Formats: sequence, structure tokens, C-alpha cells
Amino acid sequence: MQVVERTVVDEINALRKEKNAVILAHYYQRGEIQDIADFVGDSLELARKAQQTDADIIVFAGVKFMAETAKILNPEKKVLHPNPESGCPMADMATYEGVKKLKEQHPDAAVVAYVNTNADVKTLADVIVTSRNAVKVVKSLKEDKIIFVPDQFLGSFIAKQVPEKEFILWKGFCPPHFNLTPDQLLALKEQYPDAKIAVHPECNTETVKIADFVGSTSQIIEFATTCDAKNVIIGTEVGLKHWLEKVNPNKNYIFPVNADYCGTVHCCDMKKNTLEKIRDVLLEETNEIILPEDIIEKARIPLDRMLSIV
Ligand code: 13P
Ligand code: SF4
Repeated sequence: MQVVERTVVDEINALRKEKNAVILAHYYQRGEIQDIADFVGDSLELARKAQQTDADIIVFAGVKFMAETAKILNPEKKVLHPNPESGCPMADMATYEGVKKLKEQHPDAAVVAYVNTNADVKTLADVIVTSRNAVKVVKSLKEDKIIFVPDQFLGSFIAKQVPEKEFILWKGFCPPHFNLTPDQLLALKEQYPDAKIAVHPECNTETVKIADFVGSTSQIIEFATTCDAKNVIIGTEVGLKHWLEKVNPNKNYIFPVNADYCGTVHCCDMKKNTLEKIRDVLLEETNEIILPEDIIEKARIPLDRMLSIV
């Protein structure tokens, strides 16, 4: 008799059905995780999905702040993080004490926190933003002065589009995006002169300047797969290539090689989740996101405010 071996994917499928679980994944996850996820999206879309799901368990394949956001929006649900070591170095650059002090120094400013912040820092915010909605949300605020944490580059990008407001920028940054220089993209443009350049606003200001398009991961996908250029140079994390090729395989998506950081524009933290870890948390229901009740209550206010604006 032939014995058919169960693969990890078979095990995940059986467990998610048995436990009424949903798997949400960010575009920077490994391709094999994107392929089995119930939903793949950018930070805003994932927050919305987490808010709308009727599953009992959410397995969040992303970094810690994303899983925490899902928990804050669903305190009654079990949110499991495949690898608790998958954090966001930029989120860790903004500390609760530091942001509190800045807020006290500028009582007339609105505190706008990028979703890439830890849960305790979110409790200090008037509103949360993602790279997709930041300009719209900031424009809607009545305050003329904005404290923006933690990404100085997304902050500068917003400030340029909202010149009527004054910005105080926290000096955080995303290491993989920061290390992408304009020269790397321009060298590729020499090889592919007809190519369009699309980048994430976490890239440094000089890199953003030379782009044809700047947007969130989902917005880059939409631009790259539908624009009239066959070759598109992409300035963001290399995990996006998998989804781009799935959505429109007829185009050529060119990602720069960045020798300074893990070989490419590569988020080592996003890659810490694996199929095996997803199977294990589903089986054992471990690595649950647990947050103090008062943090959930306070962090939910600026998150709900964002979701009511966009
Ligand atoms: P998006 O909201 O564009 O998906 O970005 C999340 C992120 O962490 C980018 O580094
Ligand atoms: Fe954080 Fe940058 Fe990784 Fe996004 S790509 S999770 S901002 S380190």
C-alpha cells in the first residue's frame, strides 16, 4: 500500500479548518506563506481584515506590531504570532518615555504615530496612520503642528504634501529601506531606460525624489502591474516580487541588490516566520499576543480614529 505523506501545508489546512482560524500575511512574508494565506495585504488592509474577520483565531504572519494591531482591534480573539522574535527595528526606535516627553514639550501638537510602533507608544497617539493613508489622515487634523513618530522619511514625505502644517519628526528609520540609495536605482535605470521606478515612502528622501511613483506595498503592486512600462524598478522589500509575479507575470520586476543589508532590500525580521512555525502555533496555540487591558483600550482609540477617516 502506498503511504501518502502529509505536507506542512496539509497540516495547516486541516488545523485552520478544525479551529476556525484565519491566516493573515504581509507581502514581505516568504512566498510559500503568501501562497497559503487567507489574505495578503498592506498594513491598512490587514488591519481592516483583522477587524472584520469572524474567525476564532487569527494567525498573523507579519512582524510584532502588526499582530499587536490585530489584537487591539479584536481583544476577544486569540491572535497568534508564528515567531515572537519577528519585530520591527524601526518600531523599536520610538520609546514610550521619549514620545511622552516630546508630547509634553509640545502640548499644542497632534501626535501622529505610524502603525509601525509598539502598542505602548500607540497609547500616546492622537491618530495612527499607515503609508497608504498618512497624507489624507494628517490633512484631516485640525492641529497645525504635528509630532510624527517614528519614521523620519515617511514624516518628510507627508510634510512635503502638507506644507501648511509644522512637523516635528522622530529620527527613526527602516534599515532595509534606508540603505537603498538613488544610485542603485539609477544604475538599473541605465540598464532599462524605459523602466518606471516605484518606491515605498520609507526610503530615504533622496531615493524618493527620483521615483515615478511612491506608495504603500499594495499601491506599488497596483502601479507596477498596470502602468504602461514593461520593466518596473521596485524600491521596497524583495518579498513583494512574489506577489507581483502572481498578479501580472507578463512584466519584469527589477529589485536592486543592496550589499549593505542581508544581500537585497530584505527585512530579516519579516522572514523569521516559516510554514513550520505557522503549523506549530496553530497546533499548540502558543505565542499568543497578550497585552494589558489598559493598553488595548487606549491604543484602540487612535486606531479606530484612523479607520473612521479612511
Ligand atoms: P505597508 O503598509 O506599505 O504594507 O508597509 C509596511 C511596512 O512595514 C513597510 O516596511
Ligand atoms: Fe520594519 Fe522596515 Fe521590516 Fe517594515 S521593512 S517591518 S519598517 S524593518
